Amino acid sequence: MATAGKVIKCKAAVAWEPNKPLVIEEIEVAPPQANEIRMKIVATAVCHTDLYHLLENMYEAGFPTVLGHEAAGIVESIGPGVTEFQPGDKVIPVFFSQCGECRFCKSPRTNQCEKAWSTSDPRMMAPTESRFTCKGKKVLQFTGTSTFSQYTVVKKFAVAKIDPAAPLDKVCLLGCGVCTGYGAAVNTAKVEPGSTCAVFGMGAVGLAAVMGCKAAGAKKIIAVDINPEKFEKAKVFGATDFVNPKDHNKPISEVLSEMTNGGVDFSLECVGNVEVMRSALESCVPGWGVAVIVGWTDMHDVSVRPVQLICGRTWKGSIFGGFKGKNGVPPMVKAYLDKKLKLDEFITHTMPLDQINDAIEMMKHGKCIRAVLNVSPQ
Ligand SMILES: NC(=O)c1ccc[n+]([C@@H]2O[C@H](COP(=O)([O-])OP(=O)(O)OC[C@H]3O[C@@H](n4cnc5c(N)ncnc54)[C@H](O)[C@@H]3O)[C@@H](O)[C@H]2O)c1
Ligand SMILES: [Zn+2]
Ligand SMILES: [Zn+2]
Repeated sequence: MATAGKVIKCKAAVAWEPNKPLVIEEIEVAPPQANEIRMKIVATAVCHTDLYHLLENMYEAGFPTVLGHEAAGIVESIGPGVTEFQPGDKVIPVFFSQCGECRFCKSPRTNQCEKAWSTSDPRMMAPTESRFTCKGKKVLQFTGTSTFSQYTVVKKFAVAKIDPAAPLDKVCLLGCGVCTGYGAAVNTAKVEPGSTCAVFGMGAVGLAAVMGCKAAGAKKIIAVDINPEKFEKAKVFGATDFVNPKDHNKPISEVLSEMTNGGVDFSLECVGNVEVMRSALESCVPGWGVAVIVGWTDMHDVSVRPVQLICGRTWKGSIFGGFKGKNGVPPMVKAYLDKKLKLDEFITHTMPLDQINDAIEMMKHGKCIRAVLNVSPQ
């Protein structure tokens, strides 16, 4: 490759400060160092966690940054010590690494990894090191990935090699949202055949959770959202019932309890709101109900009356759907290629990277499920 070993100048959407539109800039991307890979991003989608960092959390030390973490691309060059990847490989960067060597990676009980970016200052949502500069300033790499850029550098343990037949503008969704929701149902909640489920929040994460509940054989899947425009889509992924909390003047947990003879077996919170997290727990049946927190927030405490747990409910959290980063993605790509997993149905818009601010606005106002941005030609 003509570019190997050299600094690449390319286009990226830079978030200079919180709560401001992103700016399309020319950035410099340094060559990969030991155990790193530089990749061309072909397609990226916008996930709510990008909006969380930009518009909700707004932690100054986490800026300037290049957001984006749900993407697919092609290896451009590799640093020393990388043997598993070659230039030209199709890959998905994973925001949740799998070094394979730490005590978490060695345990089948978790997908945590000691080398994850979150082990430094988690509110920064980036490792302190970055290969990006713009106008002479260091620009952080959001969740160690930064996919709103034509090129990025990632650790070799935060990349999954995928089937060369995979269409990158579709499988990019497996870099976060779809694996997150689907895995939260299948791996974390461990939804059982014949069970009743409630999924709160019908963005891509919640819809993927619905798809996971259906794949696991749930008989009743209640979709809960305050935006009734989402219910048509929920049906496509397998929701059987729909509840808009705004249509009721009593707590949503009471509504769900009446619909399910005392509460659902499994609930999944895919909103990122601590009040909804509480409702999702209270919507579970006592005795064995399992509530999973999937929505992302590090801004507020979540509270519940202890008796909710004392009487036998279980409260869990799930990151990246419980999938180990590198190992989890390729089988999901295969499931899509084998037509066992839906992806196309999540994509409501496609647009060039230059229109990233439009995509963010649409998501903010609930007008899209996933907008896929074409970042570089293949
Ligand atoms: N745990 C993880 O690994 C992980 C990974 C990706 C995303 N997330 C988080 O998952 C959440 C969902 O992400 P997304 O991309 O699907 O977001 P999204 O914005 O597309 O969807 C959120 C949905 O929640 C609905 N909603 C808002 N308030 C609600 C309420 N009070 N009750 C019911 N529904 C409500 C909205 O109408 C919308 O349909 C976010 O918090 C995101 O940060 C977590
Ligand atoms: Zn995400
Ligand atoms: Zn590890």
